[in-house]
Amino acid sequence: MPADFDTIVNLAKKRGFVFQSSEIYGGLRSAYDYGPLGVELLRNVKEQWWHAMVRIRGDVVGLDSAVIQAPQVWEASGHLGSFSDPLVECRNCHNRFREDKLESLDQCPSCGRRDTFTEAREFQLMFRTNMGPVESDENTVYLRPETAQGIFLNFDNVRRTSRLKLPFGIAQIGKAFRNEITPEKFVFRTREFDQMEMEFFCRPEDAERWHNYWLEQRMNWYHDLGIDPDRIRLRRHEQDELAHYAERTDDVEYLFPWGWDELEGIANRADFDLRQHAEHSGKDIRYFDQEANERFFPHVIEPAAGATRTTFALLIDAYEEEDVRGDTRVVLKLDKRLAPIKVAVLPLSKKPELLEVSDRIADELRPHRAVEHDITQSIGRRYRRQDEIGTPLCVTVDFETLDDRAVTVRDRDTMAQERVTIEGLGPYLTDKLG
Ligand code: GAP
Repeated sequence: MPADFDTIVNLAKKRGFVFQSSEIYGGLRSAYDYGPLGVELLRNVKEQWWHAMVRIRGDVVGLDSAVIQAPQVWEASGHLGSFSDPLVECRNCHNRFREDKLESLDQCPSCGRRDTFTEAREFQLMFRTNMGPVESDENTVYLRPETAQGIFLNFDNVRRTSRLKLPFGIAQIGKAFRNEITPEKFVFRTREFDQMEMEFFCRPEDAERWHNYWLEQRMNWYHDLGIDPDRIRLRRHEQDELAHYAERTDDVEYLFPWGWDELEGIANRADFDLRQHAEHSGKDIRYFDQEANERFFPHVIEPAAGATRTTFALLIDAYEEEDVRGDTRVVLKLDKRLAPIKVAVLPLSKKPELLEVSDRIADELRPHRAVEHDITQSIGRRYRRQDEIGTPLCVTVDFETLDDRAVTVRDRDTMAQERVTIEGLGPYLTDKLG
Protein backbone atom coordinates (compact mmCIF):
# COMPACT_ATOMS: atom_id res chain seq x y z
CA MET A 1 0.00 0.00 0.00
CA PRO A 2 1.64 3.30 -1.04
CA ALA A 3 2.11 6.07 1.50
CA ASP A 4 -0.39 8.73 2.39
CA PHE A 5 0.72 12.31 1.82
CA ASP A 6 1.86 13.29 5.33
CA THR A 7 3.70 10.02 5.89
CA ILE A 8 5.83 10.39 2.78
CA VAL A 9 6.51 14.10 3.36
CA ASN A 10 7.62 13.33 6.93
CA LEU A 11 9.82 10.46 5.80
CA ALA A 12 11.36 12.61 3.06
CA LYS A 13 12.25 15.30 5.60
CA LYS A 14 13.28 12.98 8.43
CA ARG A 15 15.64 10.88 6.33
CA GLY A 16 17.18 13.70 4.33
CA PHE A 17 15.54 13.25 0.96
CA VAL A 18 14.01 16.73 0.72
CA PHE A 19 14.37 19.89 2.82
CA GLN A 20 12.40 23.10 2.64
CA SER A 21 14.48 25.72 0.85
CA SER A 22 15.92 28.47 3.11
CA GLU A 23 14.59 26.66 6.15
CA ILE A 24 16.68 28.63 8.67
CA TYR A 25 14.96 31.80 7.41
CA GLY A 26 11.54 30.32 7.87
CA GLY A 27 11.45 28.57 4.50
CA LEU A 28 10.75 29.80 0.97
CA ARG A 29 7.40 28.50 -0.13
CA SER A 30 7.40 26.23 -3.16
CA ALA A 31 11.16 25.75 -3.33
CA TYR A 32 12.89 22.62 -2.06
CA ASP A 33 16.42 21.32 -1.64
CA TYR A 34 17.33 17.69 -2.22
CA GLY A 35 19.37 16.25 0.65
CA PRO A 36 22.01 13.49 0.51
CA LEU A 37 19.51 10.72 -0.25
CA GLY A 38 17.18 12.85 -2.37
CA VAL A 39 19.94 14.00 -4.69
CA GLU A 40 21.02 10.39 -5.29
CA LEU A 41 17.44 9.30 -5.98
CA LEU A 42 16.78 12.27 -8.29
CA ARG A 43 20.04 11.62 -10.17
CA ASN A 44 19.14 7.96 -10.55
CA VAL A 45 15.72 8.85 -11.97
CA LYS A 46 17.35 11.18 -14.50
CA GLU A 47 20.00 8.58 -15.28
CA GLN A 48 17.34 5.95 -15.98
CA TRP A 49 15.46 8.35 -18.22
CA TRP A 50 18.64 9.29 -20.11
CA HIS A 51 19.58 5.64 -20.43
CA ALA A 52 16.19 4.69 -21.92
CA MET A 53 15.68 7.79 -24.05
CA VAL A 54 19.20 8.46 -25.34
CA ARG A 55 21.92 5.92 -24.52
CA ILE A 56 20.32 2.74 -25.78
CA ARG A 57 18.83 4.33 -28.88
CA GLY A 58 20.47 5.14 -32.17
CA ASP A 59 17.86 7.74 -33.13
CA VAL A 60 17.97 10.15 -30.16
CA VAL A 61 20.79 12.48 -29.13
CA GLY A 62 21.19 14.76 -26.12
CA LEU A 63 21.42 18.49 -25.55
CA ASP A 64 22.01 20.87 -22.66
CA SER A 65 20.82 24.33 -23.64
CA ALA A 66 20.88 27.61 -21.71
CA VAL A 67 18.18 28.51 -19.18
CA ILE A 68 18.15 32.10 -20.43
CA GLN A 69 17.42 32.48 -24.12
CA ALA A 70 16.74 35.40 -26.43
CA PRO A 71 13.44 37.04 -25.42
CA GLN A 72 12.15 36.62 -28.99
CA VAL A 73 12.07 32.88 -28.32
CA TRP A 74 9.11 33.33 -25.99
CA GLU A 75 7.37 35.63 -28.38
CA ALA A 76 7.67 33.01 -31.13
CA SER A 77 6.80 30.05 -28.92
CA GLY A 78 3.60 31.74 -27.81
CA HIS A 79 4.59 31.74 -24.15
CA LEU A 80 4.56 35.53 -23.86
CA GLY A 81 1.05 35.63 -25.26
CA SER A 82 -0.59 32.59 -23.78
CA PHE A 83 1.45 31.02 -21.02
CA SER A 84 -0.73 32.23 -18.18
CA ASP A 85 -3.21 30.98 -15.64
CA PRO A 86 -6.49 32.64 -14.61
CA LEU A 87 -5.92 34.37 -11.27
CA VAL A 88 -8.64 35.38 -8.82
CA GLU A 89 -8.23 37.14 -5.50
CA CYS A 90 -10.45 37.00 -2.45
CA ARG A 91 -11.46 40.58 -1.58
CA ASN A 92 -11.74 39.61 2.08
CA CYS A 93 -8.52 37.71 2.92
CA HIS A 94 -6.56 38.72 -0.21
CA ASN A 95 -5.40 35.18 -0.89
CA ARG A 96 -4.95 34.40 -4.57
CA PHE A 97 -6.00 31.26 -6.41
CA ARG A 98 -5.98 29.63 -9.80
CA GLU A 99 -9.58 29.94 -10.90
CA ASP A 100 -9.51 26.60 -12.74
CA LYS A 101 -8.30 24.76 -9.63
CA LEU A 102 -11.00 26.10 -7.28
CA GLU A 103 -13.70 23.70 -6.19
CA SER A 104 -16.24 26.49 -5.92
CA LEU A 105 -16.25 30.01 -7.29
CA ASP A 106 -18.80 31.04 -4.67
CA GLN A 107 -16.76 30.50 -1.53
CA CYS A 108 -13.14 31.29 -0.63
CA PRO A 109 -11.37 28.12 0.59
CA SER A 110 -9.13 30.22 2.88
CA CYS A 111 -11.50 32.46 4.83
CA GLY A 112 -14.81 30.79 3.97
CA ARG A 113 -16.50 34.07 2.93
CA ARG A 114 -18.93 33.90 0.01
CA ASP A 115 -18.96 35.92 -3.21
CA THR A 116 -15.64 37.60 -2.55
CA PHE A 117 -13.67 36.68 -5.65
CA THR A 118 -12.48 39.31 -8.10
CA GLU A 119 -12.87 38.80 -11.85
CA ALA A 120 -10.23 36.42 -13.19
CA ARG A 121 -7.22 37.99 -14.88
CA GLU A 122 -4.54 36.18 -16.85
CA PHE A 123 -1.34 35.85 -14.83
CA GLN A 124 1.91 35.42 -16.80
CA LEU A 125 3.78 32.38 -15.49
CA MET A 126 7.26 33.18 -16.74
CA PHE A 127 9.84 34.59 -14.32
CA ARG A 128 11.27 37.83 -15.62
CA THR A 129 14.68 39.27 -14.96
CA ASN A 130 17.26 41.58 -16.55
CA MET A 131 20.35 40.68 -18.49
CA GLY A 132 23.28 42.98 -17.68
CA PRO A 133 23.60 45.93 -15.32
CA VAL A 134 20.76 48.09 -16.65
CA GLU A 135 17.17 47.40 -15.73
CA SER A 136 15.12 48.25 -18.79
CA ASP A 137 12.55 46.75 -21.11
CA GLU A 138 15.21 46.08 -23.74
CA ASN A 139 17.16 43.98 -21.22
CA THR A 140 14.24 41.88 -20.07
CA VAL A 141 14.87 38.16 -20.28
CA TYR A 142 12.96 35.16 -18.97
CA LEU A 143 13.83 31.97 -17.13
CA ARG A 144 12.72 29.14 -19.40
CA PRO A 145 9.33 27.66 -18.44
CA GLU A 146 10.12 24.47 -20.40
CA THR A 147 13.35 22.90 -21.61
CA ALA A 148 11.73 22.16 -24.98
CA GLN A 149 12.40 25.52 -26.68
CA GLY A 150 16.17 25.07 -26.37
CA ILE A 151 15.71 21.93 -28.45
CA PHE A 152 13.70 23.64 -31.17
CA LEU A 153 16.25 26.47 -31.36
CA ASN A 154 19.01 23.91 -31.92
CA PHE A 155 17.09 21.65 -34.27
CA ASP A 156 19.14 22.65 -37.29
CA ASN A 157 22.48 22.71 -35.39
CA VAL A 158 21.92 19.20 -34.09
CA ARG A 159 20.64 17.86 -37.40
CA ARG A 160 23.65 19.25 -39.24
CA THR A 161 26.32 18.17 -36.76
CA SER A 162 24.94 14.75 -35.89
CA ARG A 163 23.91 14.02 -39.50
CA LEU A 164 20.72 12.37 -38.32
CA LYS A 165 17.90 11.73 -40.74
CA LEU A 166 14.19 11.75 -39.89
CA PRO A 167 12.83 10.36 -37.70
CA PHE A 168 15.10 11.41 -34.84
CA GLY A 169 14.87 12.89 -31.38
CA ILE A 170 16.69 15.42 -29.21
CA ALA A 171 16.53 14.97 -25.46
CA GLN A 172 17.27 17.32 -22.61
CA ILE A 173 17.13 17.26 -18.82
CA GLY A 174 17.22 20.55 -16.97
CA LYS A 175 15.67 23.16 -14.76
CA ALA A 176 12.47 24.94 -15.68
CA PHE A 177 10.81 27.81 -13.84
CA ARG A 178 7.17 28.82 -13.56
CA ASN A 179 5.75 31.45 -11.29
CA GLU A 180 2.89 29.14 -10.32
CA ILE A 181 -0.04 30.90 -8.62
CA THR A 182 -0.65 27.94 -6.37
CA PRO A 183 2.46 25.85 -5.76
CA GLU A 184 1.14 22.84 -3.93
CA LYS A 185 1.50 19.37 -2.56
CA PHE A 186 5.15 19.35 -1.51
CA VAL A 187 7.38 18.87 -4.59
CA PHE A 188 4.45 18.09 -6.90
CA ARG A 189 4.01 21.68 -8.10
CA THR A 190 6.91 24.00 -7.43
CA ARG A 191 8.19 27.19 -9.02
CA GLU A 192 11.57 25.67 -9.85
CA PHE A 193 11.68 22.07 -11.05
CA ASP A 194 13.52 19.62 -13.26
CA GLN A 195 12.12 18.47 -16.58
CA MET A 196 13.10 15.51 -18.78
CA GLU A 197 11.91 16.28 -22.31
CA MET A 198 12.45 14.78 -25.71
CA GLU A 199 11.34 16.19 -29.05
CA PHE A 200 10.95 13.46 -31.65
CA PHE A 201 10.93 14.88 -35.18
CA CYS A 202 9.22 12.90 -37.92
CA ARG A 203 7.42 13.23 -41.23
CA PRO A 204 3.94 14.77 -40.73
CA GLU A 205 2.15 11.66 -41.99
CA ASP A 206 3.97 9.50 -39.41
CA ALA A 207 3.18 11.65 -36.37
CA GLU A 208 0.17 9.69 -35.14
CA ARG A 209 2.06 6.40 -35.36
CA TRP A 210 5.02 7.83 -33.40
CA HIS A 211 2.68 9.36 -30.87
CA ASN A 212 1.24 5.92 -30.11
CA TYR A 213 4.73 4.44 -30.08
CA TRP A 214 5.93 6.94 -27.46
CA LEU A 215 2.84 6.41 -25.30
CA GLU A 216 3.79 2.75 -25.12
CA GLN A 217 7.50 3.38 -24.55
CA ARG A 218 6.88 5.80 -21.74
CA MET A 219 4.39 3.54 -19.97
CA ASN A 220 6.91 0.70 -20.28
CA TRP A 221 9.54 2.88 -18.62
CA TYR A 222 7.40 3.47 -15.54
CA HIS A 223 6.35 -0.18 -15.37
CA ASP A 224 9.95 -1.33 -15.70
CA LEU A 225 10.92 0.86 -12.74
CA GLY A 226 8.36 -0.94 -10.66
CA ILE A 227 5.47 1.55 -10.47
CA ASP A 228 2.30 -0.28 -9.50
CA PRO A 229 0.46 -0.76 -12.84
CA ASP A 230 -2.89 -0.15 -11.11
CA ARG A 231 -1.74 3.32 -10.08
CA ILE A 232 -0.59 4.63 -13.45
CA ARG A 233 -2.67 5.30 -16.55
CA LEU A 234 -2.91 7.29 -19.75
CA ARG A 235 -5.57 9.95 -20.19
CA ARG A 236 -6.20 11.77 -23.44
CA HIS A 237 -6.78 15.54 -23.24
CA GLU A 238 -10.15 16.95 -24.18
CA GLN A 239 -10.05 19.51 -26.98
CA ASP A 240 -10.46 22.44 -24.55
CA GLU A 241 -7.56 21.27 -22.35
CA LEU A 242 -4.94 21.32 -25.10
CA ALA A 243 -2.01 23.72 -24.77
CA HIS A 244 -1.74 26.41 -27.45
CA TYR A 245 0.84 24.37 -29.39
CA ALA A 246 -0.70 20.89 -29.15
CA GLU A 247 -2.79 18.93 -31.66
CA ARG A 248 -3.13 15.98 -29.35
CA THR A 249 -1.87 15.30 -25.82
CA ASP A 250 -2.06 12.27 -23.58
CA ASP A 251 -1.09 12.57 -19.94
CA VAL A 252 0.58 9.81 -18.00
CA GLU A 253 -1.25 10.05 -14.70
CA TYR A 254 -0.35 8.58 -11.32
CA LEU A 255 -2.78 7.88 -8.51
CA PHE A 256 -1.34 10.32 -5.95
CA PRO A 257 -2.72 10.36 -2.39
CA TRP A 258 -5.12 13.15 -3.49
CA GLY A 259 -6.25 11.35 -6.67
CA TRP A 260 -5.15 10.92 -10.30
CA ASP A 261 -2.79 13.68 -11.40
CA GLU A 262 -0.31 14.40 -14.18
CA LEU A 263 3.13 12.85 -14.20
CA GLU A 264 4.05 13.44 -17.83
CA GLY A 265 2.49 14.92 -20.96
CA ILE A 266 2.98 13.31 -24.36
CA ALA A 267 2.04 15.86 -26.98
CA ASN A 268 1.85 16.12 -30.73
CA ARG A 269 3.15 19.66 -31.25
CA ALA A 270 2.92 19.27 -35.04
CA ASP A 271 5.19 21.85 -36.71
CA PHE A 272 4.07 24.71 -34.47
CA ASP A 273 7.43 25.49 -32.87
CA LEU A 274 9.78 25.06 -35.84
CA ARG A 275 7.45 27.09 -38.06
CA GLN A 276 7.17 29.88 -35.47
CA HIS A 277 10.94 30.07 -34.96
CA ALA A 278 11.53 30.07 -38.70
CA GLU A 279 9.07 32.94 -39.13
CA HIS A 280 10.34 34.99 -36.20
CA SER A 281 14.06 34.48 -36.85
CA GLY A 282 13.89 34.66 -40.64
CA LYS A 283 16.06 31.51 -40.82
CA ASP A 284 15.07 28.60 -42.98
CA ILE A 285 15.24 25.72 -40.53
CA ARG A 286 13.14 23.34 -42.60
CA TYR A 287 14.34 19.80 -43.07
CA PHE A 288 15.60 18.82 -46.51
CA ASP A 289 14.80 15.28 -47.60
CA GLN A 290 17.38 14.49 -50.27
CA GLU A 291 15.69 11.38 -51.59
CA ALA A 292 12.32 13.05 -52.06
CA ASN A 293 14.01 16.36 -52.95
CA GLU A 294 11.62 18.29 -50.71
CA ARG A 295 11.96 20.80 -47.89
CA PHE A 296 9.43 20.78 -45.07
CA PHE A 297 8.84 21.33 -41.36
CA PRO A 298 8.93 18.01 -39.51
CA HIS A 299 6.22 17.30 -36.97
CA VAL A 300 7.10 16.67 -33.36
CA ILE A 301 6.05 14.19 -30.71
CA GLU A 302 7.09 15.33 -27.26
CA PRO A 303 7.22 13.11 -24.17
CA ALA A 304 7.68 15.72 -21.39
CA ALA A 305 8.17 14.43 -17.87
CA GLY A 306 9.00 16.13 -14.58
CA ALA A 307 12.05 14.64 -12.85
CA THR A 308 11.19 16.04 -9.44
CA ARG A 309 7.53 15.04 -9.78
CA THR A 310 8.45 11.54 -10.94
CA THR A 311 10.84 11.18 -8.00
CA PHE A 312 7.99 12.10 -5.65
CA ALA A 313 5.66 9.55 -7.28
CA LEU A 314 8.31 6.84 -7.06
CA LEU A 315 8.80 7.55 -3.35
CA ILE A 316 5.06 7.32 -2.70
CA ASP A 317 4.75 4.16 -4.76
CA ALA A 318 7.69 2.38 -3.10
CA TYR A 319 6.49 2.96 0.46
CA GLU A 320 5.24 -0.09 2.32
CA GLU A 321 4.46 -0.95 5.90
CA GLU A 322 4.76 -4.57 6.91
CA ASP A 323 3.90 -6.39 10.06
CA VAL A 324 6.98 -8.25 11.31
CA ARG A 325 6.28 -10.23 14.48
CA GLY A 326 3.90 -7.59 15.79
CA ASP A 327 6.18 -4.70 14.82
CA THR A 328 5.70 -2.35 11.87
CA ARG A 329 8.54 -2.43 9.37
CA VAL A 330 8.64 0.54 7.00
CA VAL A 331 10.33 -0.32 3.74
CA LEU A 332 10.91 1.64 0.55
CA LYS A 333 10.75 -0.99 -2.17
CA LEU A 334 12.57 1.15 -4.69
CA ASP A 335 13.95 -0.53 -7.77
CA LYS A 336 17.63 -1.27 -7.10
CA ARG A 337 18.63 1.08 -9.96
CA LEU A 338 16.88 3.93 -8.18
CA ALA A 339 17.83 3.23 -4.56
CA PRO A 340 20.02 6.08 -3.26
CA ILE A 341 22.28 3.69 -1.33
CA LYS A 342 22.89 0.28 -2.89
CA VAL A 343 24.80 -1.39 -0.07
CA ALA A 344 25.05 -0.62 3.65
CA VAL A 345 28.07 -2.03 5.46
CA LEU A 346 27.28 -2.60 9.11
CA PRO A 347 29.75 -3.83 11.73
CA LEU A 348 27.88 -5.68 14.47
CA SER A 349 29.60 -3.57 17.12
CA LYS A 350 32.02 -0.68 17.31
CA LYS A 351 34.87 -2.95 18.43
CA PRO A 352 38.04 -1.80 16.59
CA GLU A 353 38.73 -5.24 15.10
CA LEU A 354 35.28 -5.24 13.44
CA LEU A 355 35.49 -1.59 12.39
CA GLU A 356 38.80 -2.22 10.70
CA VAL A 357 37.28 -4.94 8.52
CA SER A 358 34.00 -3.12 7.79
CA ASP A 359 35.85 0.08 6.94
CA ARG A 360 38.02 -1.78 4.46
CA ILE A 361 35.05 -3.54 2.85
CA ALA A 362 33.18 -0.22 2.48
CA ASP A 363 36.25 1.43 0.93
CA GLU A 364 36.66 -1.40 -1.55
CA LEU A 365 33.01 -1.25 -2.61
CA ARG A 366 32.75 2.55 -2.91
CA PRO A 367 34.30 2.97 -6.37
CA HIS A 368 31.65 0.63 -7.77
CA ARG A 369 28.38 1.75 -6.16
CA ALA A 370 26.79 4.02 -3.54
CA VAL A 371 27.78 2.61 -0.15
CA GLU A 372 27.01 3.69 3.39
CA HIS A 373 29.14 2.61 6.34
CA ASP A 374 26.82 2.85 9.34
CA ILE A 375 28.24 2.09 12.77
CA THR A 376 25.83 3.67 15.25
CA GLN A 377 22.83 2.11 17.07
CA SER A 378 21.80 -1.51 17.42
CA ILE A 379 21.97 -3.71 14.34
CA GLY A 380 18.16 -4.08 14.34
CA ARG A 381 17.68 -0.31 14.21
CA ARG A 382 20.26 0.04 11.50
CA TYR A 383 18.48 -2.59 9.39
CA ARG A 384 15.22 -0.66 9.87
CA ARG A 385 16.81 2.60 8.84
CA GLN A 386 18.23 1.03 5.70
CA ASP A 387 14.82 -0.51 4.90
CA GLU A 388 13.25 2.92 5.33
CA ILE A 389 15.61 4.54 2.83
CA GLY A 390 15.32 1.65 0.37
CA THR A 391 18.81 0.12 0.54
CA PRO A 392 18.55 -3.23 -1.30
CA LEU A 393 21.37 -5.02 0.54
CA CYS A 394 23.02 -4.83 3.96
CA VAL A 395 26.41 -6.41 4.58
CA THR A 396 27.04 -7.27 8.24
CA VAL A 397 30.48 -7.83 9.67
CA ASP A 398 30.32 -9.90 12.87
CA PHE A 399 32.80 -11.66 15.13
CA GLU A 400 32.70 -14.82 13.02
CA THR A 401 33.97 -12.71 10.12
CA LEU A 402 37.31 -12.51 11.86
CA ASP A 403 37.57 -16.31 11.67
CA ASP A 404 35.82 -17.31 8.46
CA ARG A 405 36.47 -14.15 6.35
CA ALA A 406 32.77 -14.08 5.45
CA VAL A 407 29.93 -11.58 5.96
CA THR A 408 26.14 -11.81 6.18
CA VAL A 409 24.22 -10.22 3.32
CA ARG A 410 20.60 -9.30 4.09
CA ASP A 411 18.03 -8.70 1.38
CA ARG A 412 15.73 -5.69 1.95
CA ASP A 413 12.58 -7.24 0.50
CA THR A 414 12.73 -10.80 1.81
CA MET A 415 14.94 -10.11 4.86
CA ALA A 416 16.66 -13.40 3.94
CA GLN A 417 20.28 -13.60 5.01
CA GLU A 418 23.13 -15.28 3.20
CA ARG A 419 26.74 -15.91 4.18
CA VAL A 420 29.19 -14.69 1.54
CA THR A 421 33.00 -14.67 1.65
CA ILE A 422 34.65 -11.25 1.64
CA GLU A 423 36.60 -12.32 -1.41
CA GLY A 424 33.41 -13.25 -3.26
CA LEU A 425 31.45 -10.15 -2.15
CA GLY A 426 32.25 -8.01 -5.22
CA PRO A 427 30.97 -10.55 -7.80
CA TYR A 428 28.02 -11.43 -5.50
CA LEU A 429 26.90 -7.77 -5.40
CA THR A 430 27.38 -7.39 -9.15
CA ASP A 431 25.19 -10.41 -9.66
CA LYS A 432 22.46 -8.97 -7.40
CA LEU A 433 22.70 -5.28 -8.28
CA GLY A 434 24.19 -5.20 -11.72
N1 GAP B 1 7.28 21.10 -22.96
C1 GAP B 1 5.98 20.70 -22.54
C2 GAP B 1 5.73 20.95 -21.14
O1 GAP B 1 6.48 21.65 -20.46
P1 GAP B 1 4.03 20.45 -19.21
O2 GAP B 1 2.94 19.42 -19.16
O3 GAP B 1 3.69 21.85 -18.88
O4 GAP B 1 4.63 20.33 -20.69
C3 GAP B 1 5.80 18.69 -18.46
O5 GAP B 1 5.23 19.96 -18.30
C4 GAP B 1 6.00 18.05 -17.11
O6 GAP B 1 6.79 18.91 -16.27
C5 GAP B 1 4.71 17.83 -16.31
O7 GAP B 1 4.06 16.64 -16.70
C6 GAP B 1 5.25 17.73 -14.89
O8 GAP B 1 5.76 16.44 -14.61
C7 GAP B 1 6.40 18.72 -14.92
N2 GAP B 1 5.97 20.01 -14.35
C8 GAP B 1 5.29 21.00 -14.97
N3 GAP B 1 5.07 22.02 -14.12
C9 GAP B 1 5.62 21.66 -12.93
C10 GAP B 1 5.72 22.30 -11.65
N4 GAP B 1 5.25 23.51 -11.43
N5 GAP B 1 6.35 21.62 -10.65
C11 GAP B 1 6.87 20.39 -10.86
N6 GAP B 1 6.81 19.76 -12.05
C12 GAP B 1 6.19 20.37 -13.07
